[in-house]
Amino acid sequence: MFVQIEGHQIFYRSFGPERGAPTVLGLHGGPGATHDYLLPLEDLSRFGFRVLLYDALGCGRSERVDDPSLFTLDQDVRRLESLRQGLDLGRVHLLGSSYGGLLALAYALDHPQGPRSVVTTGGLANVPLASAEMERLKRELPPETLATLLKHEVRNEFQDPEYLRAVDVFYRRHVCRLDPWPEPVTYSLNHLSVPVYQTMNGPNEFTIVGNLRDIDLTPRLHELALPLLVTTGRFDEVTPTVGQAIVDEVRGSRLWVLSNSSHMGFWEERETYMAGVGEFLRGVDRTGAGTNGSP
Ligand code: ALA
Repeated sequence: MFVQIEGHQIFYRSFGPERGAPTVLGLHGGPGATHDYLLPLEDLSRFGFRVLLYDALGCGRSERVDDPSLFTLDQDVRRLESLRQGLDLGRVHLLGSSYGGLLALAYALDHPQGPRSVVTTGGLANVPLASAEMERLKRELPPETLATLLKHEVRNEFQDPEYLRAVDVFYRRHVCRLDPWPEPVTYSLNHLSVPVYQTMNGPNEFTIVGNLRDIDLTPRLHELALPLLVTTGRFDEVTPTVGQAIVDEVRGSRLWVLSNSSHMGFWEERETYMAGVGEFLRGVDRTGAGTNGSP
């Protein structure tokens, strides 16, 4: 389905009850990926939620735009508010994966009346810290893989097939550890919007040189007064250290490290993830937004 937001066609899908149920609004990462890799979140509808997933402007099946000045965190925050209002969603549970987690936190700071709660999965608030942690993980790769990465990076050969094979070693350790990858994960990565990803992120996950690179919400996180669950994987490219740095600042929030997951706990430990997140969200609705629950 499409909805017109700020004059652009935005693709979205909705699962579970259309009316009378709180909405879980999923925010994909990349930035520049598509909603497809978040499809397991449909499982949350069995807890009675409506689950809504969409492709951000310039991504997936949403309108492709060619103006890089549109691809910033601030503009994504504004467009998220336009989408929430345009679809008349009321107060939503925001569930952001990776960059979607950063977006959820930035949105909650600017629009405190928008979310009932926030769940981040592999999300980040401090991009320089996340980058430093990814660099640490990169240094822990097998020596020959690291040597290949470094060889091509000094030459700016980010598309060299040998370099891409070495990148894949990192991704299979720290992005998704299932073998093979679920088809929607492959789809989302193969259909990454190059303009959005290059402008905001960079050439790959562990080289964040785009306009996100210096963003650090940490000094403002203490302003958040909503239920917040930070989930991450033990092997996540956005490491537990990055998740801990969020919960350290938000009173009553909680870090949940999935022990057999990297960046995609909703695939890698799907049942465990859905049970924990579903219970957290139900707890929020039982106790009312504004108090912290825990899974
Ligand atoms: N590039 C990271 C993501 O997946 C931050 O959104």
